[in-house]
Amino acid sequence: SDSEKSLSSKYFYDAIGSELFERITETEDYYPTNCEFDVFETHKEEIVKKLPESFSLIELGAGDGRKTKVLLKECIKQKRSFEYLPIDISESAIKGLTENIQDEFSEMEIHGVVGEYIEGLNWVSENRDGAKVILFLGSNIGNFNRTQSIVFLRIIWSLLKDGDILFIGADLKKDIDVLLHAYNDKENITSQFNLNILSRINSELGGEFDISKFQHFGTYNAKKGAMESYLLSTVEQDVYIKHLQKSFHFKEWEPIHMEYSYKYSHRELEFLAKETGYNLTDKFVDSKKYFANYIFKAVKERP
Ligand code: AVI
Repeated sequence: SDSEKSLSSKYFYDAIGSELFERITETEDYYPTNCEFDVFETHKEEIVKKLPESFSLIELGAGDGRKTKVLLKECIKQKRSFEYLPIDISESAIKGLTENIQDEFSEMEIHGVVGEYIEGLNWVSENRDGAKVILFLGSNIGNFNRTQSIVFLRIIWSLLKDGDILFIGADLKKDIDVLLHAYNDKENITSQFNLNILSRINSELGGEFDISKFQHFGTYNAKKGAMESYLLSTVEQDVYIKHLQKSFHFKEWEPIHMEYSYKYSHRELEFLAKETGYNLTDKFVDSKKYFANYIFKAVKERP
């Protein structure tokens, strides 16, 4: 109902949305997942060597954990002692992931947590002592704006001890055409992913959205350095939402802002680490130079 309509992208991830997201990651156009995969395959030995002997491995927004398995395997190979604690807002994603990991790695200790990031992290820090390694992969940080990401990394810092690790994946700034294709894929899965929020409002809140009257639009905001996605109302219309007992008016081609996917430069990551209490100790980049993973070490004791 704001003058500039928006919906939070965290609502994408019901069971259908989580599955659609996995399908996006398998499209030819959406490169970040494959690039991060490439980073892990190429640098896994080096990455795991940087981790302590024994730790809780916490993953924020784990999804289906496809890429993480590469690191998990390497942790086992290098005889690390760890418990894997994936956190995800989607119950179906956590259920699928924990079953899948348990099938593949029967010896692994795994404890899935359903919840938003902070909620899950608070649970972990109240229930697990000892060294922590937090995985924040897939450029999930990109869905926060610059201020929110600073606030968020500081919150994580407050839950860590000196030397604990935040391993973070960020999508790098690049040719705009590559970005536009990634968020407007040929198979139209990104469009279905966005529209699914309206279906979700229909089924969970008694909404009366006619999905065929909305159109996905993905664009690059050069000033912000972010991809943005919108749903546009293709006609003038009113949509009633029963549980709110309220109608919402849409002008023809009025946008609903759905998501930001911020893109980063190495300098911005260095700045982010410094601003939020970490030492950026290592950087790993994929062969196309599209995506990077960074080791942020929490610094607590100043000399
Ligand atoms: C989960 N997140 C990092 C994805 C991104 O690239 O912002 C979500 C996504 N939205 C459209 N495609 C993928």
